Amino acid sequence: MQALHNPHDFAFASDNYSGIHPQILAAIATANGGHQPAYGADVYTEQLKQCIRQQFGEQAQAFPVFNGTGANVMALQALLPRYGAVICADSAHIHNDEGVAPEYVAGIKIFAVATVDGKLTPELIAKQAWGWGNEHRAQARAVYISQTTELGTCYSVAEIRAIADYCHQHGMWLYMDGARLANAAAHLNASLHDITTAAGVDMVSFGGTKNGIMLGECIVVLNPALADSMVYLRKINMQLGSKMRFISAQFLALLENDLWRTLASHSNAMAERLYQAVKNIEGVHITQPRQSNAVFAVLPAAAVHVLHQQFHFYDWNESSGEVRWMTSFDTTAEQVDAFAAAIQAACQEAA
Ligand SMILES: Cc1ncc(COP(=O)(O)O)c(C=O)c1O
Repeated sequence: MQALHNPHDFAFASDNYSGIHPQILAAIATANGGHQPAYGADVYTEQLKQCIRQQFGEQAQAFPVFNGTGANVMALQALLPRYGAVICADSAHIHNDEGVAPEYVAGIKIFAVATVDGKLTPELIAKQAWGWGNEHRAQARAVYISQTTELGTCYSVAEIRAIADYCHQHGMWLYMDGARLANAAAHLNASLHDITTAAGVDMVSFGGTKNGIMLGECIVVLNPALADSMVYLRKINMQLGSKMRFISAQFLALLENDLWRTLASHSNAMAERLYQAVKNIEGVHITQPRQSNAVFAVLPAAAVHVLHQQFHFYDWNESSGEVRWMTSFDTTAEQVDAFAAAIQAACQEAA
């Protein structure tokens, strides 16, 4: 097969736009050849289970899946009864970007709460955490947070702990969507254990796709009380890969020598470089603290239009004109500098 794209193309749209880190690709090749038992009974998945225990704690149980939406839907099904509801930020991925998968596939009710920076607090959760025992209201039994949030912000360990305590005092589980958990751990200079198990999280999805792997996420059950249904839920949610060894091998490579942290730190550093380069440009208004691999900004519509001719990036909020610029594990300093120069030129032209 001939390449159909230019391998030097780059974008600031999403970390999903990037390819596969060479060490991950090599791991897939290493796991290739010969026959191995299917559906997760292979030696790579066995090894991954051990590695996940090392990272998240002895009780942790790993369930590799195909994608983030599937991980969220499956986790929510495990956490909620049929009459259950999950409380989340109104910017949450499960509320805005997963179609009706949580509602239709998991069959749950979402209670969304407005936030300033994408982050919930016990006070914000309390706005929807009520009505237990009222047969007319869906029963809030879980809280969903994402780390990082959809707005690129990160919860501190103390903030997660406060939410976890609130949840547990009110009979709710805490689920963390960790599609970008690595970026948060890198920003906080914390271990995966610190920001999940030690902070009271009950279940987390450990993201890989956005951090250099080809495809796959890993649900990690931290509270053993929740583990029983997971294998069945993975099957009925069509997240059970028969050739699971190749998802597991990618995660093994990602965890080896903390490659996940190296890649996420680089991605974060590239976003910081972009932030530093554009924050004082006249016309650019940064809208969120830069805490991971994303920069959110509002700039003149004319400048956005010009930039879109040259670069892929997301219009985040069409009514406010907010855009999202996202870096990836393979973003280079030169690419950031070229983009920042283009932003400067486009804003000058628009002034
Ligand atoms: C926070 C978060 N959760 C979940 C997902 C869903 O992942 P997928 O596209 O693999 O279903 C994404 C993807 O952008 C995400 O940003």
